[in-house]
Amino acid sequence: MGVRHAVALSSGTKALELALRACGIGRGDEVLIPTYACSALWHAVQRTGASAVLVDCDLETLNPSPEDAASRLTKRTRAVILPNLFGLPCDPVSYRLPARVKVIQDCAQAMGARLGRKSVGVTGDACVLSFYATKLMTCGEGGMLLSDSQVLTEAARDLREYDEKNPDKVRENAKPSDILSAIGREQLKKLGSFLKRRAQLAALYDRLLGGTAGLILPVRQPGRVYFRYVVRLQNAAAEKIRTRLAARGIQAEKPVFRPLHLDVPSRGRFPNAQRAYASALSLPLYPLLSQGDISRVASALRDLL
Ligand SMILES: Cc1ncc(COP(=O)(O)O)c(C=O)c1O
Repeated sequence: MGVRHAVALSSGTKALELALRACGIGRGDEVLIPTYACSALWHAVQRTGASAVLVDCDLETLNPSPEDAASRLTKRTRAVILPNLFGLPCDPVSYRLPARVKVIQDCAQAMGARLGRKSVGVTGDACVLSFYATKLMTCGEGGMLLSDSQVLTEAARDLREYDEKNPDKVRENAKPSDILSAIGREQLKKLGSFLKRRAQLAALYDRLLGGTAGLILPVRQPGRVYFRYVVRLQNAAAEKIRTRLAARGIQAEKPVFRPLHLDVPSRGRFPNAQRAYASALSLPLYPLLSQGDISRVASALRDLL
């Protein structure tokens, strides 16, 4: 990831929490997080005692909208978590944040992604990875916190382990196991080939689905990776198409379980997240799929549309 220091942890959620705690964020502070993302972000913020402030998404990128984020900044905002959803990098520069706001680049879905010539990992104050079973590389479960700041990673390393230390603050047992880490080291050797294969399969979807009426394809951007191939249906009928694909033996899922604002306290409206929730569908994409599999999914989808 091009980053100097790293702390291996038990999960991506724990890496997010310790990134925030290592930045000194806690009670009384506000952290901007997307409403349209995995709920891990909300749980991590809650565990620090800070308040999560939800941000609407951009309908084209599905990442947090820079304009909406700007409108939710207050004097208490101390950090933002950028999700790099489905492998599409978020550029912190486009958010025009005040210098006091720490940027956590959540690369759970974007390991290996680049912004221009830079690894996404170096574009924030800290970067977080997840090695859960469905991720770009896996240890079964696991996570990592990376940063160019040794002060930050040392603070997280201290919090990760309670043993043989004075209980002067609340620490954790948040280490990954040696056995799972050994699997991760082997997976890391294959990450390049996994990413290449995913990009080839995504390009095939692009070719087979391009020009289909009523279908919006994922943003193509140099440096992105393909964790998911997320399409949007113009008539917002994701659920209907999902069930019909399932009837043909094709598992396409909503890429986000539920936008957070439907379940947790929030301020304002989230019209784009609402539309994304109704219209986005994640088509099957993983390195073991064959070109024939992709063709079968694409023709089933075209047929249903
Ligand atoms: C964007 C994002 N951040 C964080 C996480 C949490 O990772 P973990 O499942 O390893 O706790 C996930 C998990 O799905 C994720 O998608």
